[in-house]
Amino acid sequence: MKNLFLISIFLCCACLMRAADNPNVKKLFAVTSGELKLSFMVGSDNRLYQLGFGDAAVEVAPPAKMPSRESEFFPPYGNGVITEPALQATHVDGNTSTELHYTGHRTEDLGDNVSQTVISLKDPAYPFTVDIYIKCYPDNSMMEIWNTVSHNEKGKVTLYRFASASPVLKAKAYWLTQFMGNYKREATLSEERLTEGVKVLDSKLGVRAHQMRIPSFMLSLNAPADENKGEVLAASLRWSGSFQFAFDVDWNKNLRLITGMNPLGSQYHLERGGTFTTPAILYAYSKQGKGEASRRYHRWAMKHAIRDAQKDRPVLLNNWEATHCDFDEERLKELFNGARQTGAELFLLDDGWFGNGAYSRDDDKHGLGDWEPSTKKLPRGLSYIAKEALKRKVGFGIWLEPEMVNPQSELYRKHPEWIITQPKRDPILGRHQEILDLTRPEVQAYEWEIIDKTLRPNPDITYVKWDCNRYVTQPGSGYLQPAEQSHLWIDYNWALYRLMDRFAKEFPNVMAMLCAGGSGRVDYGAMPYFHSFWPSDNTDPLGRIKIQWGFSHFFPASTISAHVTRMGKRHLKLAIDVALSGAFGVDLALDKATPEERAQIADAVKLYKESIRPLVMQGELYRLVSPYEHPLASLSYVSTDKQHAVVYLYQTKDGNVPQVVLGGLDAGKKYRVEEVGLPKGAVSRFPAHGKTFTGAELMSAGLANPLDTQFESAVLILK
Ligand code: DGJ
Repeated sequence: MKNLFLISIFLCCACLMRAADNPNVKKLFAVTSGELKLSFMVGSDNRLYQLGFGDAAVEVAPPAKMPSRESEFFPPYGNGVITEPALQATHVDGNTSTELHYTGHRTEDLGDNVSQTVISLKDPAYPFTVDIYIKCYPDNSMMEIWNTVSHNEKGKVTLYRFASASPVLKAKAYWLTQFMGNYKREATLSEERLTEGVKVLDSKLGVRAHQMRIPSFMLSLNAPADENKGEVLAASLRWSGSFQFAFDVDWNKNLRLITGMNPLGSQYHLERGGTFTTPAILYAYSKQGKGEASRRYHRWAMKHAIRDAQKDRPVLLNNWEATHCDFDEERLKELFNGARQTGAELFLLDDGWFGNGAYSRDDDKHGLGDWEPSTKKLPRGLSYIAKEALKRKVGFGIWLEPEMVNPQSELYRKHPEWIITQPKRDPILGRHQEILDLTRPEVQAYEWEIIDKTLRPNPDITYVKWDCNRYVTQPGSGYLQPAEQSHLWIDYNWALYRLMDRFAKEFPNVMAMLCAGGSGRVDYGAMPYFHSFWPSDNTDPLGRIKIQWGFSHFFPASTISAHVTRMGKRHLKLAIDVALSGAFGVDLALDKATPEERAQIADAVKLYKESIRPLVMQGELYRLVSPYEHPLASLSYVSTDKQHAVVYLYQTKDGNVPQVVLGGLDAGKKYRVEEVGLPKGAVSRFPAHGKTFTGAELMSAGLANPLDTQFESAVLILK
């Protein structure tokens, strides 16, 4: 240890000496966050060059010769830059090039072991500046980078490209894991080796923008990483709108990572004195494989990016799959009774509770935008029905989709000009609905009013599911000036965050689930306003296993809502066991279930509350056997004190994985293994059931697994 310290002091001095001797170097400095380091050099030409981005233990010396422009940390378009630019601006005089010179940097301690460095850059010929923010979370080797652009030119500067960051990685080879998909197939993993050239992953959807790809990825450096081994840089953009990730591998095998809002059709005219802020890209670095990269995201999120991380997520009974829009007070009361009998803690009333007369929300073609309770279905209003739930000791929550409108609605009749659309084009509907234009102040006020008038007079509503069921296909605003139509993509999302922020601040006791027609909006831009998210409308456990697996790479289990439904008509046990690995809920008609099914669900709820929920909420995830590689999927959560763990096993196909090697346990501790959630009268087939093993045994030989047939599943508790 002491030797290591001396070696690093020696390397550091050698570096500084070389820097002092090197006429090309004006300054060297580095920003370090745990195991991750970003090192810089200010050249004699005043430009900011990046020397290294990666392992903090590696000392990077400045090159003997002046670095090439490819090494510029934040390359602006024009004047000698020939790589993908991070920033492209046209100045007021028409000059299409920008030059950025280092003017200084400062580091501030933000407390709680978080620091922030701001590097200031300026164009020597124009009053045009860029400040690069680097926030460090050394506990988890995480770094968050974004920037602000400002100017004082006499007019508007147009920004065409605005990456959040564009660091360069220098490894022998790169493997990219992306999380793509579509409706009902969200967050599907796909891994490939990057070759020379530019590979772009993006979203052009604007709103519900992550329907086909989440704004997160993992890169394995030098060799493919697995769960426990390998060097990994994971990244997640804190942005709910369209995004673009460009992976540019050059001749020297350097990889420039350009990440940020999608510039497509989004040029931004920045006024004199104005500031343009990019969303942050959040990196996590791990030398212990993808599993540790995920756990770093989870720990960070629990501390910095999700609401009430210490609070248990309630067991929900949701009525969407059970009733769709077809319910009334009596039906709801029957469902409340079922919720009470099974031990569910909160009833979430989904879509269909609003709209009247010709616009009654009896299907998805009508009523969206008219947020008055249906007098037909809820004649005594929301307050009455919420109280009926409470009478049965079940909390009450409600579904909202504030951003949307059906043409078949009172709101649309009054304000057809409020929607996002393009003039002289036939409207293109998505799920029979249009998007309200959140850049328009009246719409901002209206959407707030929807939330406020639903929740304020009804304090018994303690949960909201915030949905969003279509994306942008005709980007145009009746509010924005013709020259500023391209601001729509960006301004919409900042207005959305203001709305979400106000909701979270003014209703701090209302829990919230983020949803967008499944998981069309899941990112750390929106998550700070929510407690959990809805990963998919695919609740067939077979599909859900992979979907939840995908999201687990970035989001802690406490945020992944997982409900038992009848979708896929699988065995109820499999549906339950899959839901038990997330924020557990039920979405089936309990009033129509058999007594045996109700009892089975009640047992699961009891088990979840007593033994599993603490591990789902606060445990550390270990992905054990991948459903992408084996007929079995297995994962576990281990308590932070390593006293308890829960292990899940799901057979997605026929075939046996004989041993499941566990992770994260204390090698020296003894663990008693017990299979739980067995059907009444069934006997565990696990040889380990009822026996005790050391953590070392479970993490080397593993657990013998008797499952071998598709749809079999098991949950084991270790104490
Ligand atoms: C899409 C969501 O993903 C579903 O769970 C449900 O809330 C419907 N919208 C309601 O319209």
